[in-house]
Parts: sequence; C-alpha cells; structure tokens
Amino acid sequence: MLDLGCGTGRVTLAVALAGCKVTGVDPNGSRLEAAQAKPNAGQMEWIEGDSTAIPPGYEFDTAIMSANVIQEILDDAELARSFADIAHHLVAGGRLAFDSRDPMGRGLEAWTKERSHKAVQLPEGESQQWYQTTQVDEANGLVEFFANEVGADGTENIGCGTLRFRSEEHLRSMLSQAGLVVNEVSGGFEGEPAGQGIGSLVVTAHKP
Ligand SMILES: C[S@@+](CC[C@H](N)C(=O)[O-])C[C@H]1O[C@@H](n2cnc3c(N)ncnc32)[C@H](O)[C@@H]1O
Repeated sequence: MLDLGCGTGRVTLAVALAGCKVTGVDPNGSRLEAAQAKPNAGQMEWIEGDSTAIPPGYEFDTAIMSANVIQEILDDAELARSFADIAHHLVAGGRLAFDSRDPMGRGLEAWTKERSHKAVQLPEGESQQWYQTTQVDEANGLVEFFANEVGADGTENIGCGTLRFRSEEHLRSMLSQAGLVVNEVSGGFEGEPAGQGIGSLVVTAHKP
C-alpha cells in the first residue's frame, strides 16, 4: 500500500501493524523523521518527497492520502501530477482513497477563536488550542488560517497555513483526467451521503 502524505506515520504504522506491506511518502523531512523514530517503523519503507519521488517500477494495490493531504496541495497542476503518479503506480483494479473537507460543509466558518477553542490535557498540563481564519478566497477555495496554542506554562505557539477546498465536481473531474474511475464520494467515514456527513468528501476511486 502507498500512504502518500504519510506525515508522522499515524496511519502508515497502523496499517503495517495490521499486516499490510506499506510505503510512506511525505515531502516534510521532519515529519518523516518523527515517523521513523516510532516503534516498529523499521518494518516499513519511508520515502522523502512528493509523488514524483516514488521509484519507477513500484506497484501498489491501494493508495491513500489520509487526513486532508490533498488540501495542502494548493496548486491544481501539482495535485493533477500526484493523481497521475498514483494512477501510474497502481495495478489494474487498484484503489485510491482520500478525504478532503467539503467546501459546501462550511466547516471553516467555525474556525474562530470562540467556536474552535478547546482545552487539551497533556502530560505537562492543560493546553489551549484554537484556529482563526485570516483570509478566505471563495472563488479559488483558498483559506489562510492561524493555529494557536497556549501551553500550560503560558508559552504561545502560533502556526499558520493555507488550505485549498475543492468541490466534489472539481475532484471528480481531476480524477477522471488522471484516468481514475470514481467508485464513491461519501460525506463521512460511515458512508453517509455527501453533504449529510461530517463535512468531508471521502472519495474512493480505482484504476480500470
Ligand atoms: C494533515 S497531514 C496528514 C498526515 C497523515 N496522512 C495522517 O493521516 O496523519 C498532511 C500531510 O500532507 C503532506 N503533504 C503536503 N504536500 C504534499 C504533497 N505534495 N505530496 C504528498 N504529501 C504532501 C504534509 O507534509 C503533511 O505531512
């Protein structure tokens, strides 16, 4: 299995422990290092880079991009390349699954300090965390935000990022251009109809 955008290996390791041969790929070297430092990480393969770093000749029966990886790929041309590389490395009948927040779900409207604030219990004490949207480009689905955290000792950490929200129609069109056939688009992980789930688009597709 290919875990593209594996990050710190959260899903990669779980899948490997379930008995699956898995390759984790991620362009963020420090995330990959954190993955490789985890127990049992030596049992799987890790590649630093994006989809273009997958060596020629590699074949997978399944590929995943879990936890909104595609939203971090802002440029459509780059996402098209990722889908095309996945299609290239899938065996005939092989499957791709990914999730992406649904722009119709309007979940980002809750990304204010008041609505997103939560207290998280950590070994060192209680940490306060919240998101704040700073700019929304509705036409292109681009959302800039701050991720704020105030630790138990009062230390403040502010990260920022940009995500792209793509509609179901947009994703279907990009998958089709990559030669992949959509099996299902759900609104959540329990197979809910799109628009009636958790504000996500959960997509499965296959290579014919
Ligand atoms: C929200 S994390 C999800 C990590 C992991 N899939 C999980 O379920 O925990 C998104 C990941 O996508 C990665 N990413 C960003 N751009 C990417 C690209 N072009 N190709 C592959 N991964 C990318 C980031 O480095 C980050 O680790």
